[in-house]
Amino acid sequence: MKIGGRARFFCDAVTEGDVVDALRFAHEKRLDVFVLGGGSNVLISDNGFDGVVIHIATQGVEFTEAGDRVVATVQAGEDWDGFVAKCVELNLAGVECLSGIPGYVGGTPVQNVGAYGQDVSETIVSVRCLDREGLAVIELINEDCCFSYRKSIFNSTKFGRYIVLGVKFSLKKDGDPKVGYKDIREHFGERRPTLAEVRDAVLAIRRSKSMVIDADDPNSRSAGSFFKNPIVGIEVLGAIRQSFPEVPSYNVDAKSVKLPAAWLIENAGFHKGYILEDAGISSKHTLALINRGLATSEQIVKLKDKIQDEVESRFGVRLEPEPIFVGF
Ligand code: EPU
Repeated sequence: MKIGGRARFFCDAVTEGDVVDALRFAHEKRLDVFVLGGGSNVLISDNGFDGVVIHIATQGVEFTEAGDRVVATVQAGEDWDGFVAKCVELNLAGVECLSGIPGYVGGTPVQNVGAYGQDVSETIVSVRCLDREGLAVIELINEDCCFSYRKSIFNSTKFGRYIVLGVKFSLKKDGDPKVGYKDIREHFGERRPTLAEVRDAVLAIRRSKSMVIDADDPNSRSAGSFFKNPIVGIEVLGAIRQSFPEVPSYNVDAKSVKLPAAWLIENAGFHKGYILEDAGISSKHTLALINRGLATSEQIVKLKDKIQDEVESRFGVRLEPEPIFVGF
């Protein structure tokens, strides 16, 4: 978002040893630690962070054959989209719908990154972590991570305990792309696309919504979706339907549905291109809050609060932010 103050200490951790050293340094000086990946899903306070920021910059991708699958062992500091591009180039299926998402590989298991009907929990075999209690390196298998929509143990029950050092993904050799999501299906009609075509389609769709970082596109100065799509009980949907019969919803289980946060925001009185001082809502997608130029984090928070309050008073649903707030 190009917002926020300075870190008191900043460490580019290019090896796993650097991560441990930085943790020890913070411990000795009794400083807080923030672990930073690509920085695409954070809002940093105008006052900065009065502690040690450990920027994970470890690099490396290795592909190992395993029958009709290939296991990719990827260091946490690798660029996510570079990894996706490599998989598509090698005709490995499993992450093609996650094209164009900014950030690093290490961030992806934390909130179980997902888009266009695919999420990383479908291909993650295991996550290599540094356990901050005792500084041991451990490997958590997929089931240990308890993945669900935008959630894992890393951002919930074990928040702050593990630092992701690397991720293993299992990809299907010459596999078919996933064509589940409406936008992608409509793009291809009856035709069965290749992995590369799905990647190109996802990039084009994301770009049309300013959801690909582009220095020339002010609408892309955002953290992507600023709110999660809320999962609510079916009775909440029933109540909303009385005034808004057209409200879109997606079934989660027999008792709950997911509602599009963007729809709730629009129907609570906001519109694409809405402005509040130097903060605003993208003119391409209602879920993206943007820095219109010289926005402060305070202005973004003011807009966030206003949206949360209006949506709650109109629909009785409190939207939960998706980015991580640092230094607040
Ligand atoms: N909608 C609006 N106004 C808008 C945009 C969307 O009302 O300006 C409503 C419509 O009802 C639309 C629905 O929201 O049908 C869904 O919109 P969209 O397909 O754009 O997806 P999203 O729910 O807004 C989620 C993910 C994105 C992911 C897309 C596509 C969350 C918080 N966000 O957004 O996640 O790209 O689905 O699968 O779950 C990202 O934000 O960068 C991301 C990777």
